[in-house]
Amino acid sequence: MLTATTVADEILELKRRRNAVLLAHHYQEPEIQELADVIGDSLELARKAREFSGEVIAFCGVWFMAETAKALNPKRIVVVPDPKATCSLVEGCPAGPVREFRRRNPDHVIVSYINTSIEVKAESDILCTSRNAVAVVNSIPVEKPVLFLPDANLGAWVRKQTGRRNMQIWQGSCVVHATYPARRVAEAKTEHPRAKIVAHPECPESVLAMADFVGSTTEIVEWCASSDAPEFIVMTESGVAYSLERNSPGKRFWFVANENCNCSDCPYMKMNTLEKLRDCLLNLEPRVEPAADLMARAMVPLERMLALK
Ligand code: 13P
Ligand code: SF4
Repeated sequence: MLTATTVADEILELKRRRNAVLLAHHYQEPEIQELADVIGDSLELARKAREFSGEVIAFCGVWFMAETAKALNPKRIVVVPDPKATCSLVEGCPAGPVREFRRRNPDHVIVSYINTSIEVKAESDILCTSRNAVAVVNSIPVEKPVLFLPDANLGAWVRKQTGRRNMQIWQGSCVVHATYPARRVAEAKTEHPRAKIVAHPECPESVLAMADFVGSTTEIVEWCASSDAPEFIVMTESGVAYSLERNSPGKRFWFVANENCNCSDCPYMKMNTLEKLRDCLLNLEPRVEPAADLMARAMVPLERMLALK
């Protein structure tokens, strides 16, 4: 009897033929996460990117994450399903004004969230992710003034956690997290009073103030798995449901709709599909190929971040 070949079968076969590894962020569609060699938050994916021996990295996330993987693996081919998968934080922070800030404020340490273009990374002193932002800022001598960019909510949260006063914050925002209204979180809590609230630090301060736990996507997955609570109100992107359910069987997860799409989907992350993933492995295009000098400059703040625990 003949069995139909699915797109997933084609991807697995191409992965083998190309000697490729498939890295997927938690916000990808479940059918992509299903096929991934590694699922992780942005810090884990940056660390894992260099641990593999394969010739090709198929990066399922957004463009800046794939650029980071390429900078860490300049000799490997890095392909993405959809090159238009960007990020509102990247779009809201062009390199020109960052360069200008540096020119006017040469004494400031520029701490850039990993959600920035490679051009902005190249202008930065150190990078951070949502998981290590507090540790990164704490690693900078207290007398040094800091510019934190580009996420205003993450910046405000880091300022609160570190007590740092000499820190200017860029006013960028995430279209998913920054548009969660506190009112809807309160309504969800009334509906599910036993639920604990977990939130990504890109959420507004009013939402974070209600949270039982604030952390990166992987930290949220781990916290829910280790908690005794039977249910959770989850203030982050919908794709994380895949790992939440896998790691916490029997627990319930409630997602709150934001005011951007009345959902909790990242429009950029969701541009990637199984078909586009198959095609990028087949054609080895679209490739992520930033200029070599740009990658070399971006590696300096990236390595500083990775050197921290
Ligand atoms: P993580 O650092 O948790 O992976 O988050 C990245 C991101 O884009 C959040 O919106
Ligand atoms: Fe960017 Fe927000 Fe999407 Fe994360 S969820 S990739 S911060 S737009």
